[in-house]
Amino acid sequence: MKGVILAGGLGSRLHPLTKITNKHLLPVHDQPMIYYPIRTLINAGIEDIMIVTGGNSAGDFLRLLGNGKDFGLKHLNYTYQEGEGGIADALSLVEHFADDESICVVLGDNIIEGNVRDAAREYEQQGKGAKILLKKVSDPQRFGVPEIDGNKVLRIEEKPADPKSDFAVIGIYFYDSTVFDIIKTLVPSGRGELEITDVNNHYINRGEMTWNELEGWWTDAGTFESLLRASNMVAKSGANKI
Ligand code: DAU
Repeated sequence: MKGVILAGGLGSRLHPLTKITNKHLLPVHDQPMIYYPIRTLINAGIEDIMIVTGGNSAGDFLRLLGNGKDFGLKHLNYTYQEGEGGIADALSLVEHFADDESICVVLGDNIIEGNVRDAAREYEQQGKGAKILLKKVSDPQRFGVPEIDGNKVLRIEEKPADPKSDFAVIGIYFYDSTVFDIIKTLVPSGRGELEITDVNNHYINRGEMTWNELEGWWTDAGTFESLLRASNMVAKSGANKI
């Protein structure tokens, strides 16, 4: 399985912090934000990684990360998303890199306390389709929210006013190579983006979606509130534990 980190977008919810630099280069406690998703992939046993950058200061990723030597990697791959066409638009750029293999996709602003090794192993055994990870939250309206019946996800709604559960779909996804065909069928949402939630609903409609509940804390870091929370959580209990 290959790994993908989506670190494009314009980070407009963090202006003026992101006026000059890319959101994923901002500090979360004592490290740049992008370090955490890289560790998430490496701790899951995935070392063939592509980073999708975008917006401002894309060249600084290369200065910061180089070939990934500080993480024990031999090589890192990069590509560039123009504009802010959405998470699925950013993902479409890695089709050539994925080369028909399955992928683990991590949003560049998602930080976890633990690791997703077991989920990755289970997904490998699943063999095809997709897997998402869920976490109970107090503010599901901010996220993709699943409607669940037992161990089946019936549907996911993006930022619903009236959430059907108190789970958030976190930004770590497992997909087979058909994800790129699905993305080609998408149309932009009301916010003008190709939505990852639409991708996930395609897999659900095909009966090819599984889910796990994530252990340990999880947070995004894309707003002032969540960026502060992320720093505090990392400072208090550490992230990416094995
Ligand atoms: O954090 C989990 C949530 O992430 C999910 O629950 C939602 O279903 C999903 O849509 C997403 O919601 P956000 O609205 O919080 O996503 P945001 O626009 O903040 O983008 C998250 C990351 O995705 C960002 O750090 C970089 C990457 N991204 C985003 C966009 C819009 C790109 O690489 N390119 C893009 O065009």
